[in-house]
Amino acid sequence: MHARRCNRIGWYVAFVAFVAVPWTAARAEAPRFGRDPAIEKRIDDLIGRMTLEEKLGQLTQQWGAETQDVNPVVTRTKRDDMLGLIRAGKVGSLLGTHGAEYTNALQKAAFEESKYKIPLILGNDVIHGYRTIFPIPLGGAATWDPKLVEQAAHVAAVESAATGTHWTFAPMVDVCRDPRWGRVAEGAGEDPLLGSEMAAAAVRGFQGDDLTAPDSVVACAKHYVAYGAPEGGRDYNTVDISLQTLHDVYLPPFRAAVDAGVGTLMSAFNEINGVPASGCRYTLTTVLRDQWHFDGFVVSDWGSVIEMVAHGYASDPADAAAKAITAGVDMDMSSFSYRDHLPRAVADGRVPESVVDEALRRVLRVKFAIGLFDDPYTDPSLEKKVILTPEHRQVAREVARSSFVLLRNEGDLLPIGEDVKSIAVIGPLADSQKDPLGTWAGVGKAEDVVTVLDGIKQRAGAGVTVRHARGCDVRGDDTSGIAEAVEAAEQSDLVVLVIGESDDMSGEGHSRASIELPGVQRQLAQKLHATGKPVAVVLLNGRPMALPWLAENIPAILVAWHPGVECGNAIADVLFGDFNPCGKLPITFPRATGQIPIYTAHKNTGRPPRDDRYTSKYIDLPWTPQYPFGYGLSYTQFTYRNLSIKAQELKADGTLEVAVDVANAGKRDGAEIVQLYVRDLVGSSTRPVRQLVGFQKVQIPAGQDRRVKFSVPVRSLGFHNWDMQYVVEPGDFQFFIADLEGTFRVVE
Ligand code: BGC
Repeated sequence: MHARRCNRIGWYVAFVAFVAVPWTAARAEAPRFGRDPAIEKRIDDLIGRMTLEEKLGQLTQQWGAETQDVNPVVTRTKRDDMLGLIRAGKVGSLLGTHGAEYTNALQKAAFEESKYKIPLILGNDVIHGYRTIFPIPLGGAATWDPKLVEQAAHVAAVESAATGTHWTFAPMVDVCRDPRWGRVAEGAGEDPLLGSEMAAAAVRGFQGDDLTAPDSVVACAKHYVAYGAPEGGRDYNTVDISLQTLHDVYLPPFRAAVDAGVGTLMSAFNEINGVPASGCRYTLTTVLRDQWHFDGFVVSDWGSVIEMVAHGYASDPADAAAKAITAGVDMDMSSFSYRDHLPRAVADGRVPESVVDEALRRVLRVKFAIGLFDDPYTDPSLEKKVILTPEHRQVAREVARSSFVLLRNEGDLLPIGEDVKSIAVIGPLADSQKDPLGTWAGVGKAEDVVTVLDGIKQRAGAGVTVRHARGCDVRGDDTSGIAEAVEAAEQSDLVVLVIGESDDMSGEGHSRASIELPGVQRQLAQKLHATGKPVAVVLLNGRPMALPWLAENIPAILVAWHPGVECGNAIADVLFGDFNPCGKLPITFPRATGQIPIYTAHKNTGRPPRDDRYTSKYIDLPWTPQYPFGYGLSYTQFTYRNLSIKAQELKADGTLEVAVDVANAGKRDGAEIVQLYVRDLVGSSTRPVRQLVGFQKVQIPAGQDRRVKFSVPVRSLGFHNWDMQYVVEPGDFQFFIADLEGTFRVVE
């Protein structure tokens, strides 16, 4: 350690590092809370009049669903009992409430019948749509199109706000480099920049420009922080990462959400380097409030405050409550630890009442900012008008088809040509209405979903025979249906095989120890392949999967994620060529589970993989991924040339300006995601071999080309050094677009 520090100091003598503020693309007009002196005065007045118990009521959130079917696992409180709690000021927020009639009744108890007439803030998990379900967020990220993600979030806001939701527990902005983790489905994948762009887009879409508008819901960036790095990919598990990695990889999407004006954050279940995230003053206060100037509030995750007892960080729930509020968690979700235990902690002098007041101030600010004190009610006539409209379904179809990633298309098997007169649509997911909804599908209903089979039938029309056989289940070892599937294949010109993961194989508490195809699905694929008929696989999946046999043998593979209600239509659009696929992987697909963690922005090691024996590789598998981050084919071909850079020497406050010609050399119009990566060759900390620093989606008609330009502030190319300073260091860099590369130098 000592020698290392000496070396580092020596290095500093030779080079000067530019210490800068970490860079994010802030929006100047992002909403801010707590800037209105008149409102601050009203908050002061309320705080001055409330008792400690009443204050803690406001910091308490509890489950409020009226019916048991919203979440059968959680016991409901009867309506009258709930109204009583609200009137008595024992609760400031509910989650799980739906419908204007019910939420207005609850709100009336708060706003008209409680002592201080403080409205409730009602939250729900509106993750990828409310009733109009969109692709899972990992699919949304595969569009690499923040505008589409913003549009999807806006539709979700319109629908959920109309049924009495003020607040969504989304976006989940956890970077994840371990696809065993089931919640990888809910995030934007492995990369901090892509994740940051998606985070900001979702916040803009949910909140809009006017937080008081009837189609705005407050967003909640979760799970703060590093929840996506659990050991072994096991949900809720220990996170032990360097502070550099915390700052350079896991924090940036939260910073982007804060800069986009997000109203709330949720503190995570996991510990970070020994301190549970829900008790971590460093992340919750030092970083979030002192450095980023976040002025909304933080809610705990479900029970994460009292879980600090099981972590071994708090001796009992009272200790946990004291630690959480002191660290910076303002509202307790569902464990009642604030309401039950903080009165004693304040009386004992363990927690100063000013800490409670500050938490209350932050919660009230958000309630004021979103207009609840002016009108907390929901217009009951809205619900019927805005839910699952054809316009909303159209947006869902557009997002879904833009999210699909074509991994393989040997011999241009796709799109399906006019010569194909019969199609066998096979597989356990081909005719499923439930699975395409994916995890956290809100109030989405299977009956709303267009299956792959129906989508294909509709598009194929009367002239094409469509046969269907299930073949096997997603899981289990029953092979008895395979013979029927083989028969259907043998009678058809083309097989579309729809396999992957069911909706309940990803999401919270649904980590997998193996990310290979479950059950006997591979066997089904092998038998179909053996018929000699061309097979196109459509994968419905909640995570990256390891598909080595498919990748080598099946000529066409389309990753469709869990695409939501427009599943079948969107897939048919792509299979038949009405839409040219343009999605790119937001996360690496490994060859085998054992390669995890495997991601593009990795470091080089002292012995980069080569053929010789003692280099960094495996003896039983190539070290490279099956499909890297950023990968995805099109029905056309894009070629890149004339990479140029405006200035080879750049100052730390300058701008990296590069440009490239991208040509559509094929016969179809298409969209390409142009990606710019850099490598900082020598640093006082080692730097990734390739780091994404910019991307653009460009539509290019067949036969045409476009000059694509990037302007990247040099200050965004920095990193946190050993002393936790964000630095941009002088030195040589490489940059890459597709297979072209160049160099530049950052100078003092
Ligand atoms: C999840 C959160 C979610 C919350 C409320 C928790 O179990 O981790 O993501 O927002 O429940 O439903």
